[in-house]
Amino acid sequence: MSKVAVLGAGAIGGVFGVRLCRSGRHDVTLCVRKPIDRLVVETPDAVIESPVKCAASPSEAGPVDCVLLAVKGHQVPDVAPWLEALIGEDTIVAVLQNGVEHRERVEPYARGAEVVPVVVNCPADRLAPGHVAQQGGAQLVPEEGRGARFLASLYEGTDVPVKPTTDFKTASWAKLCNNIGAGPATALTDKGRGVLHEPDVAELCRGLVRECAAVGRAEGAKLADDVAERTIERLRDADPEATTSMLVDRRAGRPIEADVMTGAVVRIGARRGIPTPLNAAVHALLSSINVPVMGKTN
Ligand SMILES: NC(=O)c1ccc[n+]([C@@H]2O[C@H](COP(=O)([O-])OP(=O)(O)OC[C@H]3O[C@@H](n4cnc5c(N)ncnc54)[C@H](OP(=O)(O)O)[C@@H]3O)[C@@H](O)[C@H]2O)c1
Repeated sequence: MSKVAVLGAGAIGGVFGVRLCRSGRHDVTLCVRKPIDRLVVETPDAVIESPVKCAASPSEAGPVDCVLLAVKGHQVPDVAPWLEALIGEDTIVAVLQNGVEHRERVEPYARGAEVVPVVVNCPADRLAPGHVAQQGGAQLVPEEGRGARFLASLYEGTDVPVKPTTDFKTASWAKLCNNIGAGPATALTDKGRGVLHEPDVAELCRGLVRECAAVGRAEGAKLADDVAERTIERLRDADPEATTSMLVDRRAGRPIEADVMTGAVVRIGARRGIPTPLNAAVHALLSSINVPVMGKTN
């Protein structure tokens, strides 16, 4: 029986935590700010639920075999005290986050533990503490290695496929193209994915993805020449009211996870000497949503 900590028991922590709790094969602790009794995940086919064990502060936690880190990218520094308590000699930290800088973001707090970057394929929303709506299939794509194999063993016998990849660069940049294709436009206009049917908005989104793909290719990701056209076509083939996590966060008044997305494209583009003017402009606007209104104070 492995000891597992779910650090960030929101939408993704809920979806992937509840499977481990239900399996009964592991000793699972949710690391939370406010304890809950149960996880309830509504999938398109079923409701999956389980009683849960919680730790409400790092002083209640001890070293585990695996941390499933599922806080938002900008929340990683806040959970440093949790990581300090949870990481022991052989702990694996699986980073279930969007973006392309999983290691850079987490290693400074991981105290030498093995950090496994993971692409998470699963649309999900947090409805209330411990209550999640999972709108599609749930799959994990970790970078191949010891940690990925351990993660796969945790999910054996569950409905979650764990598909390690030897080309994490391509997997993570392809996911970033997807996130950048719809997230910024929906969050900035406060409209669902139907906004991608407006021709000028669609062209802006293609431009954002083109820049993202150019930076990704410079980093070694293998992305098709027409990735922007195909991404926007696929993203708008959805219910016009369908949301993105950026839009959900904006509507809930929570900080938007812009730094790991448009921020990463601008940052890495600058390092590589690749211009990213559209991502820079959109990033400035998204970041502005995250800060209080500035102006004359007297
Ligand atoms: N949702 C999706 O559809 C989806 C799909 C693929 C990938 N992702 C990625 O997965 C990652 C997680 O996203 P999410 O949608 O699951 O976010 P989320 O629903 O906002 O969940 C984040 C969780 O982290 C917790 N948290 C934040 N700071 C904490 C702290 N200091 N101590 C303890 N808990 C803390 C929050 O707790 P509180 O409730 O106390 O705030 C919340 O439960 C992101 O990188 C996202 O981009 C999301």
